[in-house]
Amino acid sequence: MEGCERGKRLRVLVPGGAGFIGRHVVAALAARGCDVVVGSRHPGKYANGVGAASACRALRMERMLHAGDWTEALAGIDAVVNCVGILRPRGHETYDRVHHLAPAALAAACRERGLRLVHVSALGYDDRLRSRFLRSKHDGENALRASGADWHIVRPSLLDGDGGHGGAKWIRRVAHWPVHPLPRAARGRIAVLDAGDLGEAIATLVLQGADVREHDLGGNDLRTIGEHLAAMRALHHARPAWRLPIPDWLTWLTAHACDLLHATPFSYGHWELLQRDNCPRVNRLPSLLGRTPRAVGTMPEHGTISEAVA
Ligand SMILES: NC(=O)c1ccc[n+]([C@@H]2O[C@H](COP(=O)([O-])OP(=O)(O)OC[C@H]3O[C@@H](n4cnc5c(N)ncnc54)[C@H](OP(=O)(O)O)[C@@H]3O)[C@@H](O)[C@H]2O)c1
Repeated sequence: MEGCERGKRLRVLVPGGAGFIGRHVVAALAARGCDVVVGSRHPGKYANGVGAASACRALRMERMLHAGDWTEALAGIDAVVNCVGILRPRGHETYDRVHHLAPAALAAACRERGLRLVHVSALGYDDRLRSRFLRSKHDGENALRASGADWHIVRPSLLDGDGGHGGAKWIRRVAHWPVHPLPRAARGRIAVLDAGDLGEAIATLVLQGADVREHDLGGNDLRTIGEHLAAMRALHHARPAWRLPIPDWLTWLTAHACDLLHATPFSYGHWELLQRDNCPRVNRLPSLLGRTPRAVGTMPEHGTISEAVA
């Protein structure tokens, strides 16, 4: 299936299409000839579309908990890419509604209509973790598996790219600092990938499907968060930053304070994730792209990344 078949353009709904990942998905789908419709809580703001998207439909996941609630949003749509996610719950926008119940209802609605659904989830779920964010993502995945729809789940590692207003933007900013504050226990490795690559991989899934349904996606290198910061810094500065180790109790306190105040992209869930590897078991990105993923950051000029942050 290509974006334009026998004169008819494939119409793809992208809930969350105005977000960081969503914008890259919209661009990739449009580049492959699709007609893209964004779903957003703010249809007025995006009345003229978002980027290359032609239109925007009103969509509030916390109110779309039954298949029938999706009738209007799915009118005339041929495929869906769900890029909606929340870092913190707010009022009726709970993790369970946004990450689990609404995607379950969307999957049921897609099954009824025979639509392909690509769903963006997250790496790192583990029974032992307390993060309600990850648990709700896991419940959402289980709902898709049980739905009988034509579903695909993508689980990207941490993303870098233009247009990030959360973690990616913060990391790019902190990378410039001459001192990098690093939680002592943040020894888990991540496989940071380029958001444009993720958009392209998702467009391939929409248009061509794949022989497997679940896709862990990551970049070429496994790095700790400290190594990632060093690699991002090396893009602009010859001199590596000083590493300032932060004691675990202070990181724990900061994570809870950020959650309480809804401040910064840092959260208790991130703190849990940073302490363990958060990379693909099998990285499906190269095969979906048909090439090597783009590099993110660069090795510091003097010595290896780990020497630079030691
Ligand atoms: N960024 C990363 O590094 C990364 C890595 C792995 C996985 N992920 C996952 O990917 C998903 C998207 O991440 P992102 O970085 O693109 O986040 P983002 O920039 O915050 O975008 C999320 C989008 O979700 C929409 N949204 C939020 N609450 C909604 C609701 N109640 N109803 C309808 N739409 C709602 C928002 O659209 P409107 O404001 O237009 O309504 C927003 O644009 C998340 O689930 C995240 O966990 C992200």
